[in-house]
Amino acid sequence: MSNVPLNLGRRRFLTLSTAVVGGVGVAFTAVPFIKSWSPSAKAKAAGAPVEVDISKIEEGQLIRVIWQGKPVWVVRRSAETLNELSAIADMLRDPESLEPQQPEYIKNIYRSIKPEIFLAVGICTHLGCSPTYLPDSFNKEVKGVKSGFFCPCHGSKFDMAGRVFKSVPAPLNLVVPPYTYINEDRILVGTNEGES
Ligand code: FES
Repeated sequence: MSNVPLNLGRRRFLTLSTAVVGGVGVAFTAVPFIKSWSPSAKAKAAGAPVEVDISKIEEGQLIRVIWQGKPVWVVRRSAETLNELSAIADMLRDPESLEPQQPEYIKNIYRSIKPEIFLAVGICTHLGCSPTYLPDSFNKEVKGVKSGFFCPCHGSKFDMAGRVFKSVPAPLNLVVPPYTYINEDRILVGTNEGES
């Protein structure tokens, strides 16, 4: 027998093998793309609303939760603190919260749905440091004001509604996240009022 049919047969075999290997290669490279199209459960959870039990937060106490990878403060303010908020308006850069740093339904003097419970994203509006909560010693930073938040990076100061004081580097009030009350004791951070 001549060599021609043998060579032809070998070539066909090689072509077939290459096609199979090529097919496997496509299958392997396609998987990571398909994976990246569907968001993982972790990614979904990272953007999901966060439920907070506020029933155990004592007056003056601040707790932290993480929402969308950011720290969110939840503070229970005293009547004394709430009174202070209306007395210091002329010391603040944006006392009436005209800048859109909060949802519309939180645009009031307390920057909250219920006066005593205050929420804010705990990130300084200057360059993103985390301000320190000073419940009793803020008057070292601003004379005559008992409580507030002080940013150690460049000295920005915020009152107990997260409103920025004048003459500091931070240009804006702290961000208030969207939230809603599920009931008297529970808040859902990341969902607008009435949407739970
Ligand atoms: S980052 Fe807060 S003052 Fe600069």
